[in-house]
Order: sequence, then C-alpha cells, then structure tokens
Amino acid sequence: MDHFLYRDGALYAEDVPVAEIAAAVGTPFYVYSTATLTRHFRLFDEALEGTDHLVCFAMKAASNQAILRTLAELGAGMDVVSGGEYARARAAGVPGDRIVFSGVGKTHDEMRAALEGGIRQFNVESEPEMDALSDIAVSLGKVAPITVRVNPDVDAKTHAKIATGKAENKFGIPISRAREVYAHAATLPGVEVVGIDVHIGSQLTELEPYRAAYRKVAELTEALRADGHTITRLDLGGGLGIPYTRDNTAPPLPVEYGQMVKEELAHLGCEIEIEPGRLIVGNAGLMVSRVIYVKSGQDRDFLILDGAMNDLLRPAMYDAYHDIVTVAEPAPGAAMQPYDVVGPVCESGDTFAKARDLPHLKAGDLVAFRSAGAYGAVMASEYNTRPLIPEVLVKGDQFAVIRRRPTFDEMINRDTIPEWL
Ligand code: LLP
Repeated sequence: MDHFLYRDGALYAEDVPVAEIAAAVGTPFYVYSTATLTRHFRLFDEALEGTDHLVCFAMKAASNQAILRTLAELGAGMDVVSGGEYARARAAGVPGDRIVFSGVGKTHDEMRAALEGGIRQFNVESEPEMDALSDIAVSLGKVAPITVRVNPDVDAKTHAKIATGKAENKFGIPISRAREVYAHAATLPGVEVVGIDVHIGSQLTELEPYRAAYRKVAELTEALRADGHTITRLDLGGGLGIPYTRDNTAPPLPVEYGQMVKEELAHLGCEIEIEPGRLIVGNAGLMVSRVIYVKSGQDRDFLILDGAMNDLLRPAMYDAYHDIVTVAEPAPGAAMQPYDVVGPVCESGDTFAKARDLPHLKAGDLVAFRSAGAYGAVMASEYNTRPLIPEVLVKGDQFAVIRRRPTFDEMINRDTIPEWL
C-alpha cells in the first residue's frame, strides 16, 4: 500500500497534487511519501515485536538524508556499505551504535573512520578483511565488534544480478568453513565476535529460500556456541520483494516474514537485526517525468520523455518492470494504446517499456513511474551531462525539495583543465 492515489481527477502524493510539485521544481524528479516510508518501516518493526531487534535500513536503496532522518526518528538503524554511506548516515543524525557496516571490499580508511566514529558492528566477509580490521582496531586501541557473513549456498530465486547467497557469488564465506573462520577470529586481538550475518539476495518473492538459509544459520549458531563463541546477534540481511506489477502475485508480507524468523530462530535467544531497503522505500517513491514528444515510428508510437536511463536505471540494467501511470487520471473506460516509452539518451537501451498500454498522451503531459523509490535516485548518473534530478519529500499537505537540481555550471566546474593544456 502507498500514498500515491488519484483524487479529483489527478494523482496526489499524500495531500499534494503531483502536478503542483512538477510546476514548482520542474521535471523530471523523484517524490517520496513520508506516510508510506513510516508505514513500511513499522510493518517490519511490528513483525519482530516480542523479539529483541533492530531494523537497519539498507541505505543503498535510498540515501537522501531527509529519508534517513525520517527513518532514524522512528528508531531505525542503518546498514551502510561504504565510507560515504557511513558519513551520510552520521550527518543525518544516526548514532554510530545503530550502524552496521556490510560489503566485501571495505577499505582500511573506511574501517578506520567507522571505528573512530563509532559503529555497532562490522559484517566481515573474508579472512583478509578480518585480519586487516583487527590490525586497524589494535592500532587505535579499540576492539571491533564483528559478525561473519556466511554464504549458505541457497538459491534465492531472484534475478541473477541481485542474488548473493549461492556459492558462485562473491559474498560471505562458505558456511562449510565457518567454524574454521570463527576459530581464527578468536585468535585476533582487535575483533570480538558478536554474531552471524547472512543476506541471500534482493527482490525475493518467496519465504522458502530464507527459511532454508536461516535453518543453516540456526545450526551454525549452536555449533559455534559449542565451540565456545559468544553468539548474541543474528543479522538476517534484507531482500524481501515488493509488488512491481498490478497482478495478484504479491510477495510475502513483513508479518509473514517475521513469523518465519521467530519460528526458525527465536529459540536461540539472539538479538535479531534485519536490513530491508527496497520494501521500506520502493513503493514510497515515484519518478515523475514529462512527455517531450510523441513520435510515430514505422510500426509503433514512441513516447519520448524528459526522464532517461541515467535517472532511473533499473529497466535498462535489469529489464525491470515499473508501472507507468498518467498524472491526470484517465477518464473511466478511456481507450488505451501501446507506446514504447523512451528517454532522450543516445542509446537504444534508454527504453523504459515496450508496447506499454497507456491512455492517449500528448507532449507536455506528465507521467509517473511507480515503485521507483528504491534503487532509483541512488543509481542515477550524469550520463550525457544530464543533471541529477531533484528529490522531493511530501508529508501530509507539505512538500520540500530535499535535493535540488544542480546547475550546469555546478556540474561543469567540477572538471579541471590542466594548466599545460
Ligand atoms: N543487505 C545487504 C548486505 C545487501 O547487499 C542488500 C542489497 C540489502 C541488505 C538490501 O536489500 P533489499 O531489501 O533492498 O532488497 N540495484 C538492485 C538491487 C541491489 C541490491 C543489493 N543489495 C535493484 O535495483 O534491484
């Protein structure tokens, strides 16, 4: 459920007409709904009620500080994967003891910054990383709390580019080697084992892969405890999918996920951490764009928008489906016609949808891409020297620009032409 609904013939973001935002900030832009963000965060928080837990928003999905602040005020922690994300989370006001640091390639500088600034735990993904972290912590007179990310070798049944829990993926250490790696951790002076971490992929639409992975984690918890390790925390990753289409194949709900987590893991008495990104912010955001031209091709009509693949990369990168709606509500029974929906970037991959049925559209009309809040703005680039598009946050009847569109000068002046040229 989200808060982008038609009212009086027009699409609203909560209580603000989307067309009003377009008039104020220009197109294209992203708009997020506070009520939807809040609702989705609470669904997870409530799903784990009765268990000691922390919901760490995977901020790679959407990292604007206004979004982070909104979630942090509800009690969220953050899952960060770079020094930049760590700095951004801190700048948004998230305390270090609510930040977990994931990722296969943490640099020494990133580990040092997080240790100095304060961190809840590092989710370590390899022995070389563990050794480096221990050395850095010792040099700072600190001890780094760690979990080890295990790779359970389960099939998450999702798009190959976003599956992470199979043996062939670069993530985690093979679960079969976990006891050996934990034994090594116990010999290092600069790290302290606090738990186990697992994340098997993104946009999961079934619970069974999770269940299989969490069973393996439960077995490992018992084995590690028998080996003398203190396992008090289980980080279960993120990945629960969202409905992108309007058919009835909705992925499991957070409450069902939470129930399964309790069934598989409650007996261990561990604190549970989860790292959802997409489910919290995905359906809380739209990308709004304007039709520049409608062009008749030989056998099809092209809807040429001012938004492009550099603004919303998912269709070009994963063949992802995003529902496209008109900002003016179509009249009941309005005739639909197929369009190829494309952007102005100079490559054929700049195609959002092929033969998409939409009401009749003309130049100047506004359209909105639904479910664009996650992995939308954060994956944008300035390809074709197109400015990063603004982000807007709505709350009730108010809206604010939370990242403005840069000017051409701001973009161009980042280049330096050497004096010898
Ligand atoms: N935790 C870890 C360690 C992750 O790698 C990820 C996502 C998450 C949590 C959050 O997963 P989520 O709940 O958002 O599914 N750009 C792709 C998705 C990449 C996901 C990467 N890792 C897309 O647009 O579909």
